[in-house]
Amino acid sequence: MPRFYVTTPIYYVNDAPHIGHAYTTVIADAVARWHRLAGDDVFFLTGTDEHGLKVQRAADANGISPKEQADRTSERFKEAWRQLRVSNEDFIRTTEPRHHRAVQQLLQAVYDNGHITKGTYEGLYCVACEAYYAEADLVDGNCPIHGRPVELLEEENYFFALSRFEQPLLDWFAAHPDAIQPDAKRNEALGLIRQGLDDVSITRTSLSWGVPVPWDESHVFYVWYDALINYATAAGYADDPERFEQWWPAVNHLIGKDILRFHCVYWPALLLAAGLEPPRHVWVHGFLLVGGEKMSKTRLNQIAPADLVADFGVDGFRYHMLRDNAFGPDGDFSYEGMVARYNADLANNLGNLLSRVATVVDRKCGGVGAAPQPDSPLAGVAAEAYAAAEAAWGRVQPAEALEATWRLVREANAHLEANEPWKAEPGPAVDAVLGDALEVLRIVAVLASAAIPDACEELWRRIGLPGSPLDQRLPAAAAWGGYPGGVPVEKGAPLFPRITTA
Ligand code: MSP
Repeated sequence: MPRFYVTTPIYYVNDAPHIGHAYTTVIADAVARWHRLAGDDVFFLTGTDEHGLKVQRAADANGISPKEQADRTSERFKEAWRQLRVSNEDFIRTTEPRHHRAVQQLLQAVYDNGHITKGTYEGLYCVACEAYYAEADLVDGNCPIHGRPVELLEEENYFFALSRFEQPLLDWFAAHPDAIQPDAKRNEALGLIRQGLDDVSITRTSLSWGVPVPWDESHVFYVWYDALINYATAAGYADDPERFEQWWPAVNHLIGKDILRFHCVYWPALLLAAGLEPPRHVWVHGFLLVGGEKMSKTRLNQIAPADLVADFGVDGFRYHMLRDNAFGPDGDFSYEGMVARYNADLANNLGNLLSRVATVVDRKCGGVGAAPQPDSPLAGVAAEAYAAAEAAWGRVQPAEALEATWRLVREANAHLEANEPWKAEPGPAVDAVLGDALEVLRIVAVLASAAIPDACEELWRRIGLPGSPLDQRLPAAAAWGGYPGGVPVEKGAPLFPRITTA
């Protein structure tokens, strides 16, 4: 059975989940669900990034311990993902012992291979922040947060010899031309490497909220070098080497463009230094912008997924995250845009197809659905929709996959309008048109189930099918002719009630 390993970034626990986090997570979820439909053995990982100064500071501000801060906030992420039907197999927290073991083992291997050296780090330090600042970040030479003078400080640090990995990275990129997608992001990563790489400081002594350095316990690892390793931890790196062998390096990392450097330069280099292979796929997406700007705590423009779920439902929310932007470029989020797309695609197109079919089956066929015709003009449309959706999900382009699926929905509506079964006398002609439309609904319930699982389960039940679309297997389930006929079709309330904004 093919294996499919997909990850989201692990989210910082300094702050609550917002729709930017949900964007990556829902895409990863839909891709994971599509691969389960295809019969793959799927391992979908998400989690929380719990160490470092940012989390320590948030805890201080809340008057609680960093562990308490992490416990509370990771729970909020778990809750948000439960609400959004995120189907992750594992949820990793970097404070877990299994992760500490993996971080220490992997970085010890890098150390033993001679790629970590001791040195001094010199920088401009704000004592109030307990952080270094680059000259460019200062405001009139002072700390940008406290407005106080910074000090030139020296700290003993361990450095990762990143500079040695320029050529190995370039060789690896050349051998795996499709590893970083889209191409524009691959070129960006290549550009960073070609500019030249400096060694990087990977430990801290000014902070204790981190994973202790095994060969020198007065240091902890800098949070990023602990965080990246989560992907190896969860695959069994320290505790189950056999399992790790099975899942690594064929991983699919989904990330936002803000963390490209870490995932496409530092992480592959660190793995090479440990004697392991870099990740096989990194899929880099743009930002969801609000009013043209990145969401941030300070701008007060963060939107919680739950607020939108209240208006649009779980599937309305998921559909928008998946359908509105192409994966890659930035996209603007707007409430009005979300209402418009929900009404057009879900309430009108899909919702209407079901309610029209169910209404006419009720009136003309005694509520019993007919089987489709083998030579229906919609059969070819369905085959094309499946082929296009399959290719697009494989390229992590959910918007394209859904566009292809909705072409089938639109064609089925057009077919109904052309034949107007609601005007005809009951009989074989009406049965044929309705049977074909029911077959489209069955196929759409399978193809769209990766995106809108609850609605598809309900759709499946309404057209009288046993079991669940989630348990179907592709490609067989997309083949024309699966709807049995002779089963009860239920009208019920609208699947996606229209949203009116007054
Ligand atoms: N903890 C690090 C990641 C470590 S991974 C080993 C981190 N966390 S984060 O909480 O800041 O989340 C960053 C990720 O959230 C981004 O890379 C992106 O996937 C997602 N998003 C956060 N804001 C976003 C938008 N406004 N739009 C789209 N995705 C964004 O960085």
